[in-house]
Amino acid sequence: MDYLEIEGGNRLSGTVTIDGAKNAALPLIAATILSDKPVTIDNLPRVNDIFTMLKLLGNLGATYTFEENRATIDATTIDNTTAIYDIVRKMRASILTLGPLLARFGICKVSLPGGCAIGQRPIDLHLKALEMMGAEIEIKEGYVIATAPEGLKGATIVFDKITVTGTENIVMAAALAEGETRIINAAKEPEVVQLCEILRDAGIEIEGIGSDELVIHGTGGGLIDIRHITVIPDRIEAGTYLCAGAITNSTITLEHVNHAHLVSIILKLQEMGYDFEIEKERITIKPASRIKSIRISTTEYPGFPTDMQAQFMALALIAEGTSTIEERLFENRFMHVSELNRMGADITLNNHTATVEGEADLNGADVMATDLRASSALVLAGLIAKGTTTVHRIYHLDRGYVKLEEKLQKLGAKIRRLKE
Ligand code: EPZ
Repeated sequence: MDYLEIEGGNRLSGTVTIDGAKNAALPLIAATILSDKPVTIDNLPRVNDIFTMLKLLGNLGATYTFEENRATIDATTIDNTTAIYDIVRKMRASILTLGPLLARFGICKVSLPGGCAIGQRPIDLHLKALEMMGAEIEIKEGYVIATAPEGLKGATIVFDKITVTGTENIVMAAALAEGETRIINAAKEPEVVQLCEILRDAGIEIEGIGSDELVIHGTGGGLIDIRHITVIPDRIEAGTYLCAGAITNSTITLEHVNHAHLVSIILKLQEMGYDFEIEKERITIKPASRIKSIRISTTEYPGFPTDMQAQFMALALIAEGTSTIEERLFENRFMHVSELNRMGADITLNNHTATVEGEADLNGADVMATDLRASSALVLAGLIAKGTTTVHRIYHLDRGYVKLEEKLQKLGAKIRRLKE
């Protein structure tokens, strides 16, 4: 297995290009199941989760090409509606095929995704909503077996909790349902917005895009004509590089970003003392004279994102004073704490709140990645720790970051990928 070796202490400089958003691309690839024509998707990030999702569609019978950052997917040839465990277990976002497969074929079998390091990750809200739309759901031998013999019917759905992929699954199911579906307490993440915009551009009437109440007018069964998609920039990759600039107190520029998706992240960094130059698709972060401690509570968009919690915990280690970070979305998203403490951090946990002592004297160590965003937090800490940090199990990183070590090398970090 690969691991990363990082020599701490280098300032960064220069420009880094941000790739397309993994969490926008995954539902968009699933949405091609609804299309009666091949779909071309540009700005697709070459990360493992995307390869897995394309492999899943291939396993269902779709054909596709994926060169550079462009995929062309023809899902009209799908002849199998079982999403198998062996693929779903590698990526729980495979559950995003459930809504479109059921809407188009009236029957499908999707392996239960199971939990992951950060939490149990239930899909009860997805299933309850599909039942409201007339689906019959059975759980058997680790699979969700969903049927809708008379097709899905529009319904009013209230999500007890805001769920990103739950909202995306139901929006896609509603696109082909009979009549109107109203989703109350819908997720508003930019990735959900792009999915709604693509379906609207393909002829589906959707009201309330970007709000917490969506109304989708379904086709009653007919497929739609999605032709071309360009994936939005990855706001979490962008936030991660802003933290790389911040933690090394450097001046770096990010290009191909959409700063409107980064407001809560930029505001927190400004609160900590960093300066910014913001242009059309570029953001430059500049050093802080004093790096102040911070209080963070993760919440749904447009609040502070849970996917940036681990990165900001690493950053809080160099602030003056004590920071507190509350994780409100997932029950176990503090796996990076013990690894950061092994590097010399002093972080204590009390239920869902971490207390982070600043001005930590970090030393390089052997550390282990546990989930995608925790891995990036360990890399950030390695950039400033004294000596050498080796980050193991970086297959977690490769699921969601394009060429992380190459992009950091280009910015001046001393980091390289080695084989165990
Ligand atoms: C999406 O996961 C993202 N993944 C996650 O990013 C992100 O952390 C998360 O949203 C929150 O923003 C993708 O978009 C592929 P949820 P998702 O359903 O949709 C509970 C990354 O790092 N819940 O919004 O699975 C759930 O337990 C990944 O790229 C239910 O109880 O998250 C959690 O507490 C990690 N029942 C909360 O809702 C359900 O049926 C939010 O989960 C569904 C969710």
